[in-house]
Amino acid sequence: MVFKAQILGGRFGEIIARQKSDSDLEIGELLVDDNAEEKTLMQVVDLQYGSQISMQNLEKISGFNLEDDLQTEFFNNKNRNYKLAILKNVLSIRASPKSSKKLPEFFGKLRDVTKEDLSFLTKSDNPFFFGNLRSGTKTLDLPVFLDGSKVLSHHILITGTTGKGKSVLMKNLLWNAASLDYCSMLVFDPHDEYFGRKEFGLKDFSDPNKIIYFTSRTVPPGQRTLKVNLKLLRPDHFDFLDLSSPQRQVMYLYYKKHKSEWIKALLNSDSSDISSNEVNEMSVSVVKRRLKLILDISVSDSNLICSGVFDETSGATTISDLISFLESGKLVIVDTSNFSGTTELLLASLITSEVFHKYKDYNTKGLLNDKPVISIVLEEAPRVLGKNVLDQGPNIFSTIAREGRKFKTGLVAITQLPSLIPKEILANMNTKIIMGTEMSSERQAIIDSASQDLSADSRNIASLDKGEAIISSNFSRFAIPIKIPMFDESIKKVSKSDLTSKNSFSGIKL
Ligand SMILES: Nc1ncnc2c1ncn2[C@@H]1O[C@H](COP(=O)(O)OP(=O)(O)OP(=O)(O)O)[C@@H](O)[C@H]1O
Ligand SMILES: [Mg+2]
Repeated sequence: MVFKAQILGGRFGEIIARQKSDSDLEIGELLVDDNAEEKTLMQVVDLQYGSQISMQNLEKISGFNLEDDLQTEFFNNKNRNYKLAILKNVLSIRASPKSSKKLPEFFGKLRDVTKEDLSFLTKSDNPFFFGNLRSGTKTLDLPVFLDGSKVLSHHILITGTTGKGKSVLMKNLLWNAASLDYCSMLVFDPHDEYFGRKEFGLKDFSDPNKIIYFTSRTVPPGQRTLKVNLKLLRPDHFDFLDLSSPQRQVMYLYYKKHKSEWIKALLNSDSSDISSNEVNEMSVSVVKRRLKLILDISVSDSNLICSGVFDETSGATTISDLISFLESGKLVIVDTSNFSGTTELLLASLITSEVFHKYKDYNTKGLLNDKPVISIVLEEAPRVLGKNVLDQGPNIFSTIAREGRKFKTGLVAITQLPSLIPKEILANMNTKIIMGTEMSSERQAIIDSASQDLSADSRNIASLDKGEAIISSNFSRFAIPIKIPMFDESIKKVSKSDLTSKNSFSGIKL
């Protein structure tokens, strides 16, 4: 057996091991201590130098080298200068995995983790593939599965600096979800990057009927035009907007009076239309102006001219069609790349509200059990889940974050800036997929809200490369380091049975 390091001190969670001179330990690497009673899985969280020679002498020797070009030969160099690794206990693995509570043996020798170390772990009931187990930068041939129905309904947060692979991860998750019948996904895609109009994408999925694409631009054959009828909008769909209470009051007053015709009535209103003790004229004109802008509507001779996605005549069944696709386990991609951020959020807010209310209704009628879990994917999540937005009051996304799990509705929130999301919402995102994050304030926000103790992992998170991630979940025993596969044609070779059969792989059980 090849040993890479030996334990020589430290304390629980900060074990110090000396690296063998011919091995090359990395931050995040997984190592195993075999002991007669217990096998302990540990992870490198920090690396430092060690030497038998005093600092003063080392400085002097370095001076000779640098200034006088004198090469210094050490007698028995390997033993005198070396590297030390700081490790944290991850898991105790013998008959079954347990949280580690003991220190491994003094002078215990550490070796690489192998597939066999974790092979007794079997797949969960609804296996959902996330990536392969990773030790430092090395990828192991051990696929990592979590229980998809639990993970998806209890919300996922995907964080990482720009370019670290959040979208590639999301494409993988969407592809995997499309193979599974117990879950459907609804994606709002502001970059139009998931369907793959020009490049490889979800449109290339083996069963094209599973993928439904709504777009307001040129519609690819077999896909759908995105138009939504104005009458479907309600004032609560604007909850995420920064409106004052008198302005909100205007909307609700018009809604109360004119029901589904409220937007038309409001946009056509003049000062005689409202009694001044009900609302203030100034608020009406602000709301009118904002509505026209967001909805891309102008008014001419009391007629609405709709130039955007919201329409007066068409689009009456768009949302109900979309919901029935989701109910039948399909993947629905809504291309929002054509709209301003606010219009996108209004559309997302409207569709999400309708989905959520439908599922709540099914729950009341006792019909929810037969329905797939619906996951709603949202990019730049702080736009609706940020502290500054939620200070004005809850919206449909924060409502789902709090209670969606009871109604088989989950969020997949993607962000570079988790620190903008309130702690309470972060705590409700029960699975966090953490990708490389250089900013320490962002790392801290995610460490503080993780399901496992990641207080020693700050460096580890900072050093994650593209496609490398850590999954911290209430539904896994430890924070699992994974490597996400690149999303390309090769994903076609992964068969459906690989992703769904409970026996084809050994993975990580809950
Ligand atoms: N799993 C992976 N394996 C190999 N390379 C990857 C992986 N994930 C991402 N990359 C590389 O990094 C690039 C950027 O990835 P991606 O677009 O997913 O980043 P992102 O986190 O979504 O960035 P942004 O925040 O800007 O949207 C990809 O085009 C690809 O070249
Ligand atoms: Mg991206």
